[in-house]
Amino acid sequence: MLPLLKTRVPGSRSRAQARQLRRHECQNTTFVSANWPIFWERARDCNIWDADGNRYLDLTAAFGVASVGHNNPHVTAAARRQLGRLAHAMGDVHPNELKVRLAGELSALTFERWSRSIGTHDSGKTLFANSGSEAVEAALKTAMLATGKPGVIAFTGAYHGLTYGALDATAWSFFRAPFHPQLPGFTVHVAPTESAVRAAFDQNERGIGAVIVEPILGRGGVVVPPPDFLPMLRRVCDECGALLIADEIFTGFCRTGRWFAVEHWGVVPDLICVGKSMSNGFPIAACVGRNDVMDAWPESAGEALHTCTHLGNPLGCAMALAAIGEMKRQKLDERVRQLQDRLPGRGLGFMKGVELPDAAACQRVVQRLLRRGILALGGGERGNVLTLTPPLTIREKELDFAAREIAQLTK
Ligand SMILES: Cc1ncc(COP(=O)(O)O)c(C=O)c1O
Repeated sequence: MLPLLKTRVPGSRSRAQARQLRRHECQNTTFVSANWPIFWERARDCNIWDADGNRYLDLTAAFGVASVGHNNPHVTAAARRQLGRLAHAMGDVHPNELKVRLAGELSALTFERWSRSIGTHDSGKTLFANSGSEAVEAALKTAMLATGKPGVIAFTGAYHGLTYGALDATAWSFFRAPFHPQLPGFTVHVAPTESAVRAAFDQNERGIGAVIVEPILGRGGVVVPPPDFLPMLRRVCDECGALLIADEIFTGFCRTGRWFAVEHWGVVPDLICVGKSMSNGFPIAACVGRNDVMDAWPESAGEALHTCTHLGNPLGCAMALAAIGEMKRQKLDERVRQLQDRLPGRGLGFMKGVELPDAAACQRVVQRLLRRGILALGGGERGNVLTLTPPLTIREKELDFAAREIAQLTK
């Protein structure tokens, strides 16, 4: 369904809720102005309804989460069923069967699938997490255990999350600067070139155990690397005895037209981090690694070295299994490949960025789109990239409508 606005945007209810929020939420969290934000009340597929009854077309999938459509009936039914049975178990002590199934599914979708294509018989093991940042930290800890080397290489422009370990890997000075004195400092940030990566390996005295990379920069402004970049990283990691960590928290699960973005370059990482759209709306994420890499973790003797209260939450696992089922049933990887050119901008699949002159120009477009009933976000380290990541189920007429509106506002 196309947008239907009943009031000026944001309407009076959204504005009243924003004023309330300012009183009780940390003032750094939600940006509030006369024109921002709208308060979401309900959603279905690519449509969002706000507190004032306005209907919007969502080109964000809410940070890339709602890949199989908001309130997807299969995912919602699975959540309802599970909520009626068991909302929480004892993650690493007395777990629930759905954790077994989801870990098996993640192995099948990653290392088992990938190894079949290169004629080996690998499989994967999972460490569950509640957020993408935690999945990244699980991967960094795994690399430390597996290689004994504490150093990590990450790339300028990359975003890996904001908890301290993940923030150490995130290069953006905006997020790092206020906390710099508290950051652990195990990461070397380099430009995405072979000479910079090799120099970082050569110059790091304590040893580099991992290279972490977003196959396509997401929050960094939807930047697709040159064709030889990821294969080069694979080669250099192998030569230098380091693990390659693919941060597919944004790009994973069909977003770019492949199940995982590394598949565009035929590269198999040692560890992959996933989150966001895995459950289509429950805070659950995972670090999946090749068996032999993950077996660097000692077998539990009763106390896990890395766990958390909600680890492998049954509701999250039920939603993830249903969401993955929907991606398969609707063949969303193929659909996204077929329709990707209908969404404007650079990028792959339904992950596109339209570069604008500066952040102010991008914000103007985002605001004007909102007032026309289209939700989009700015991205890029300079804030100048209109970022488009709609649900992968978006209809063709919705895509064409969005493309027309964006063309008008950005010409
Ligand atoms: C590539 C990537 N890695 C990690 C994260 C952090 O995930 P979370 O916000 O769930 O902690 C994000 C979030 O946008 C991301 O895009």
